[in-house]
Amino acid sequence: MQATIDNSVSIATPQYMNLYQKWMVPRLVDVVMRNRAATRYRSLIVPKACGTVFEIGIGSGLNLPFYGTGVERIYGLDPSEELLAMARKKARAIAIPVDFIARACEEIPLDDSSVDTVVMTWTLCSIADPAKALKELRRVIKSGGTLLFVEHGLAPEIRVQTWQQRLNPLWCKLTGGSNLNRKIDQLIRTAGFDPAELKTEYAEGPRPFSYTYSGQARPDACITRAPQ
Ligand SMILES: C[S@@+](CC[C@H](N)C(=O)[O-])C[C@H]1O[C@@H](n2cnc3c(N)ncnc32)[C@H](O)[C@@H]1O
Repeated sequence: MQATIDNSVSIATPQYMNLYQKWMVPRLVDVVMRNRAATRYRSLIVPKACGTVFEIGIGSGLNLPFYGTGVERIYGLDPSEELLAMARKKARAIAIPVDFIARACEEIPLDDSSVDTVVMTWTLCSIADPAKALKELRRVIKSGGTLLFVEHGLAPEIRVQTWQQRLNPLWCKLTGGSNLNRKIDQLIRTAGFDPAELKTEYAEGPRPFSYTYSGQARPDACITRAPQ
């Protein structure tokens, strides 16, 4: 497998990113994502990973302690240099080799069909172009591979959806790009994955923020390569 990996963690900071987004958001992400409900989902989903793992939006590395002995190597991608610095510290505490990729998921520097497991936890909400990112994931995952996911997104009730649409612009600004209103299962299906195991439920917290999609998806057998 060939990976163009930037270990220097020196990626350009977009001009629009103000000090709040650059310095505060990463620290908030690290603290907020340690909550009890998130930790429970991590403990259920992440140990299912095996072989070569590609974690997108690895953030501050909160999933790292949950990887089991079946994992040979982890590629951890994130565009935030501040979050990657935190993840690097956590990677030193585990026995599995971790390579960090300092960039966004819309263009992945890994070969076609090169990873066994993709892990995506509370990341699809933040990706600027989720369809493009999922298409890239479909390209790099092996035909027998697994996409493990936990994501918050669009709730089924119209009343909750209305609040999600109302709150979304402000929420996006406060969180540095997280969206409340994405229909996660539809995005996954459209990209050529079959979410064979899908659980939807409200996790802890206010309903507009807590509707959660979790489970496993496999590359759709009908599509041998991601659509171009
Ligand atoms: C809410 S945090 C979740 C972090 C981590 N996955 C976790 O479970 O704690 C969202 C993450 O998505 C990352 N992110 C934002 N845009 C991205 C993109 N285009 N590609 C990959 N990751 C992205 C952020 O930097 C951040 O680390």
